[in-house]
Amino acid sequence: MSAVIPKRILFTMIEKYTSEPAEKLVYNEDFWLEVRKGYRLNPDIINLENGYYNIIPEQTLERFIKHVREVNYQGSYYMRTVQFENKKAMAVKLAAIAGCATDELIITRNTTDSLDTIISGYPWKEGDEAVMALQDYPTMLTMFRQIEKRYGVVNRIVSVPHDPESDEEIANLYAGAITEKTKLLMVCHMINITGQILPVRKICDMAHSRGVEVMVDGAHTFGHIRFTIPELGCDYFGSSLHKWMSVPLGAGILWMKNEHISKIWPLMAPANDSSTDISRLNHTGTHPVYTDLTVEDAIEYYLMLGPELKEARLRYLQHYWSDKVRNLPHIEMYTPSNPARSCGIATVGMKNMKPAEMADILFKKYKIYTAPIDIAGVHGCRITPNVFTTTTELDVLVRALNELQ
Ligand SMILES: Cc1ncc(COP(=O)(O)O)c(C=O)c1O
Repeated sequence: MSAVIPKRILFTMIEKYTSEPAEKLVYNEDFWLEVRKGYRLNPDIINLENGYYNIIPEQTLERFIKHVREVNYQGSYYMRTVQFENKKAMAVKLAAIAGCATDELIITRNTTDSLDTIISGYPWKEGDEAVMALQDYPTMLTMFRQIEKRYGVVNRIVSVPHDPESDEEIANLYAGAITEKTKLLMVCHMINITGQILPVRKICDMAHSRGVEVMVDGAHTFGHIRFTIPELGCDYFGSSLHKWMSVPLGAGILWMKNEHISKIWPLMAPANDSSTDISRLNHTGTHPVYTDLTVEDAIEYYLMLGPELKEARLRYLQHYWSDKVRNLPHIEMYTPSNPARSCGIATVGMKNMKPAEMADILFKKYKIYTAPIDIAGVHGCRITPNVFTTTTELDVLVRALNELQ
């Protein structure tokens, strides 16, 4: 999955770099310092926790504020006239990024909204089975537990190895949990607690050959690594746009194959319950519509920087620090060493320190903000840089990980 870097990027803020080959821009710290200037960042902390929410660049933030003012100016008139057609127009732009049909994608509030729509709305019957992993997002697992209690569905849970030998090892692991009663398999595109990218296409092909549908949790991949949703070969896909697409808080996507739309029960009942298109799954009640309006501004920034360059830089930043500490005797890495199996996110633990204590020391002594993880066989701090992260900041992390013994 090596990145193909565009020959030139159109980035007005950094015009002086447009003649430099993009392959070199990945490593050009002056270029990335220019990118960093486009953000307002807290100088008192080194933010290595961009996985929860991606701070948005000032350019997008200003547009967002403009949308807030405009909606507030127009009030109910906006809400009763163009609200829904504007949201649809944003979904069309997202479908272009996702490489999918426009009638198969909707803007939701977040990944939770998208995936819970499928988990709770699937036409379960008692005795049906679902397959998932211990390393899946905790509230997706609790939603499946709720379905277990409510409908008598049986959940089969596999545990994904931190550093697999091959794609087949992972696909076989999931295959081993499928029975003739299995209806739905949930798989993370990128596991949030380790950054591991799973071979989703192979898992989908295997599952389909056994008559099982696949729902992909893409919370961390949309806008982070390049792919089109159809090439994953899945049935359902959900992601959050306030993560790697850098849309303001409160937006996500749900995609599904057209053939599945009519069988899913909406999470919230729509105004028109006889509609059969994907809009029947898109009712949320009144919500902050200016977040939806900012989708096109975030896409503009994403394309201006260049998806290939962004992915290559995030992968470079991860290996910049993780390659320096991976083999230290007191360090435990929870992210695969193979660059194709991860991108910007990686998780590092100390063999003799609890994650909470490690995160506390990193923050108090080194001003490094991280996410401590202490579940599903992962005991460390998740390190998530962003495009504004400097190698100088990562040098502080490397020094800290060497000193903390
Ligand atoms: C793998 C994964 N799935 C789902 C979610 C839920 O995302 P949200 O809170 O935006 O709905 C997250 C959030 O971090 C996640 O990492």
